[in-house]
Amino acid sequence: MTQLNELKTLAKMPCEETVLLRVDLNVPTKDGVILDDSKIRACLPTIEFLHAKCRDTKIVLLSHLGRPDGGDDKLSLKPVQERLEELLGREVLFCKESIGPEPKFLIHQAKPGSLILLENLRFYPEEKKGDFNFAKQLSELGDVYINDAFAVSHRNDASVAVLPELFPKMSFAGFLLDKEILLLTRTFKKPEQPFIAIIGGSKLSSKLPLIESLIEKADTVIIGGLMAYTFLKARGENVGATEVEEDFVDQARKILLSRDGRKIVLPVDQIVVDADGKIFESQFPMPEATRACDIGSGSVELFKKILSNSKTVLWNGPMGIFEQAPFEAGSKSLIQFLDGLKATKIAGGGDTLHMVESLQGKHAFSWLSTGGGAMVEYITKMDLPSLKWLSE
Ligand code: 3PG
Repeated sequence: MTQLNELKTLAKMPCEETVLLRVDLNVPTKDGVILDDSKIRACLPTIEFLHAKCRDTKIVLLSHLGRPDGGDDKLSLKPVQERLEELLGREVLFCKESIGPEPKFLIHQAKPGSLILLENLRFYPEEKKGDFNFAKQLSELGDVYINDAFAVSHRNDASVAVLPELFPKMSFAGFLLDKEILLLTRTFKKPEQPFIAIIGGSKLSSKLPLIESLIEKADTVIIGGLMAYTFLKARGENVGATEVEEDFVDQARKILLSRDGRKIVLPVDQIVVDADGKIFESQFPMPEATRACDIGSGSVELFKKILSNSKTVLWNGPMGIFEQAPFEAGSKSLIQFLDGLKATKIAGGGDTLHMVESLQGKHAFSWLSTGGGAMVEYITKMDLPSLKWLSE
């Protein structure tokens, strides 16, 4: 297990010609427009520190965006380059390739102190596969490696888990990574109890591992969002026309019937929309042809009652379609309730940051983590695969 004080931080980093800085610029986008730039802002302290400390060092930013299947214009990092330029007030060069002669040439030609962003690393399938040769080609672009991409540090992606191995004495932890690890360790090594987790979002399939590991550590796991309906169906409820993940109903049932299954709390009512677009509150059984879009008032009251006793709260994923009024109300009520609650309250994950930002709820939380899966994996294991390369 990586010890807190073992991470090699930027203070120990020598100034070399080129730094490879792995960041997480995986921001939510729609048609190439950035919906929330929290993750971009979160990288700025490290970039600015590096500029101040090593004025002539070229900084090469490496990141992924989304989960592309090969190249995909909609998931290009180009809009992120433009936002970075706005936020930093300086030029950011962009390279359409991430490995090979093109980035080599661009970096070589760039003026000392330049900032260069390479295109989405996941346009290369080798990135997700943790491919050694891909990491080797990335390593040829710089002299020092920094990981400031906490949110992806639970993955075995080449740029996170293999690349640092190629810089045995020259791999460091950026400010964001260091701060996330420090705060999460302090809060969750021995969380003050009751520890309540709130998990939401649309896809149960992507959050199952997260629920399975959290359920052991938390006292209660509140589940909302569309994914709750796969559990509700597994429990035998009539969920109307709400889209459940049929392939995961059995697994959801297994979790509910497991030793810790009693820790799961599900919605007792919901705001639904019917086939004519009429919006109303419904309990179970849900009327045919209605779809759940947010938790109902009874669920909000139930969840608040549970949360009122908590000392530690962890939130990942919205309770409803918060981007679309009036389906933000459930998440908003819980945020407002947390604002007045005396407890350590951490929210994390890309969609969660977006929700908190758009519902103006930042002040309700003690800390907003950039990581969703990474946060939960760290909390439950107190370690991440990539950290060993960043330790003394
Ligand atoms: C995140 O947003 O949680 C990180 O960027 C990791 O993305 P991934 O779940 O697609 O690996």
